Amino acid sequence: MEVIIKKDKKEMSKEAAEIVRDAIQKKPNLVLGLATGSTPIGLYEELIRMHREEGLDFSQVTTFNLDEYLGIPLEHPESYHSFMYRNLFDHVNIPRQSIHIPTNSLQNIDSFCEWYEDRIEECGGIDLQILGIGRDGHLGFNEPSSSLGSRTRIKTLTQETVEDNARFFDGDMSKVPRLVVTMGIGTIMDARVCLMLANGSSKVEAVARAIEGPVTAEVTASALQWHEHAIAIVDEEAAAGLQRADYYRWVYENKQKLIRGEFQ
Ligand code: PGA
Repeated sequence: MEVIIKKDKKEMSKEAAEIVRDAIQKKPNLVLGLATGSTPIGLYEELIRMHREEGLDFSQVTTFNLDEYLGIPLEHPESYHSFMYRNLFDHVNIPRQSIHIPTNSLQNIDSFCEWYEDRIEECGGIDLQILGIGRDGHLGFNEPSSSLGSRTRIKTLTQETVEDNARFFDGDMSKVPRLVVTMGIGTIMDARVCLMLANGSSKVEAVARAIEGPVTAEVTASALQWHEHAIAIVDEEAAAGLQRADYYRWVYENKQKLIRGEFQ
């Protein structure tokens, strides 16, 4: 895994936005996997700025979101549908018909999950998947003990995630939906590039376990160690538990110079 340590959340977001921008410029009809939560908001702000100020064009981009709460009204401010429109889709030119977000409804949920997987495939597969990481090491809503081969399906949130997400529901855990639909770890692992972001001291343990711990369903993000092209961008606070932080920093600073033969 390529590990990039940036000074703070702002720098993390900028670095991630540059990777997304470069991918869109290289492949204008990019299939982009998207995440919600507080982590990617700075990345979305930077993409909106690039769209407005630099003309970054999303008109051929297709998106797939990782997850959604089940039973939440779509218009609820904390549904991931609302989140995505508020934080990104209302501000860039992704055609509405190219946006995919998992359903909020339990009705025909199994057929929906199958359809979502088929639709990803029909669109050519996800080129670049943006990911946050939960304090319990989850990717999407793949809580500890999720199968590392799982596909899009219903999951039940752990108490830890319910507590974490209560901050979006007036601090009231009873308002946090317990059932969710999420891409599986197998779905995520099929993306050509996985870009995981993490910032802040609450993520120290999850980041260390995901990047340097054993691959285990107890920390589903650790599956990325098996991914052919996974990049983790973390800020200094979240990187505090990484044993090889100095190595990652050195590689980031010097690898291109080594390749170009400029390193003395
Ligand atoms: P956060 O959530 O970005 O709000 O910290 C991350 C996650 O649960 O995946």
